[in-house]
Amino acid sequence: MRIEIPRECERIGSLQIYGLQKVYELDGGEGPHEHDSVIERIPSEVLYDRMREMAIVVPVKNERLKLIEGVLVGIPSPCQVIVVSNSPRGPVDRFNLEKEALENYAKFTGKKILVVHQKDPGLAKAFVEAGYSELLDETGIVRSGKAEGMIVGTLLAKWLGKKYLGFVDSDNYFPGAVLEYVHEYAAGFAMNNTSNTFVRISWHSKPKIMESSIFFAKWGRSSVNSNMMLNRLLTHFSGFETEIVKTGNAGEHALTVDLALKLEYAAGYAVETHHFVNLLEKYGGLLASEDDEEVSEKVTICQIESRNPHMHESKGEDHVEDMIDASLSVIYHSDLCPELLRREIMENVRSRRGDESPKEIAPVKMYPSLSKIDMDTFLSCCDEALNFNLASVRT
Ligand code: GDD
Ligand code: MG
Repeated sequence: MRIEIPRECERIGSLQIYGLQKVYELDGGEGPHEHDSVIERIPSEVLYDRMREMAIVVPVKNERLKLIEGVLVGIPSPCQVIVVSNSPRGPVDRFNLEKEALENYAKFTGKKILVVHQKDPGLAKAFVEAGYSELLDETGIVRSGKAEGMIVGTLLAKWLGKKYLGFVDSDNYFPGAVLEYVHEYAAGFAMNNTSNTFVRISWHSKPKIMESSIFFAKWGRSSVNSNMMLNRLLTHFSGFETEIVKTGNAGEHALTVDLALKLEYAAGYAVETHHFVNLLEKYGGLLASEDDEEVSEKVTICQIESRNPHMHESKGEDHVEDMIDASLSVIYHSDLCPELLRREIMENVRSRRGDESPKEIAPVKMYPSLSKIDMDTFLSCCDEALNFNLASVRT
């Protein structure tokens, strides 16, 4: 892969946010890892070295089997795949269909695939015993939600001893785009060899049909809103207007397992925006911190612009509005958010929601950092639960 080095960087405390980096060549060939003044060439061997240490988590809820299979087709074979499903178990057992389809697919490819159901009682037990029952609902099983599935996937990546962790949605129509995202995750880790690296993808375009012609939109509504407000937040602290944030709510992202275990998680679809906010809260040196050592750790956010168009299932207007609200809520309710920005967020809500808008945007449920988990207990519960209860473990 050939990628430009970051042109811009915003530094806030020990957090550095790199500007968007363009990909110049998807396959940069073999040979040495080298760079000239503006382009870094990361040879395929180096990318594969990173992929061998990477788990790709695929969250699934009620997606078409053909789409899920297409996503797996795109994930390079050195990666360990972890499918975390929250599809219904009845009246039709959708999860069972997924498992059968994936087991069959694994037979043909030899791919390493672990398939779990988010609501598996064995997982719930592991969370209780390891002291993280926040994730469970009143009936004692893991709550629904994309973030909740991501937490499960993160801990399973740790269970499997992986160093890097990437996420790809299961409703992507283009296997080639998935292949590209994973290469970009690996490139991000190769370019930033630290234990706290976060790689976030900004899609080059999203094809849409407009008046019977194809149109390649650059920004989705959800990302426009979250990027704008995150940039305003940064501007407030630096005093210089910035547009550096392009991946505020990027569903396609990867991070070191070390970093994933330090961050807080916001429920559902607020998770990605909250990761950005939480990095600022923890490493920006802007709030009084309980942990000086943590504040001094360097963290890098690297944003890469992918080349393939991104096309996924359309889930409707209400879903997009809810997602925007969830993203804005985590900024609004952060201790970092200045009064002026809170007012701006509420104006944004009113302009989209009109008479339905609340007086104050509702807070989103937060899950504490995974550092609070008793990891040894969790991992040994996984050994028991996953090796015996769940049908599909292939590592
Ligand atoms: N395990 C699990 N549990 N997976 C879930 C759940 C759940 O409760 N709910 C949704 N998913 C899966 C979906 O099947 C899909 O693969 C993925 O999570 C993303 O859900 P979508 O409903 O397709 O979200 P989206 O496409 O509107 O939004 C995506 O892009 C946004 C950025 O534009 C998501 O990745 C957002 O998180 C992201 O902010
Ligand atoms: Mg989607």
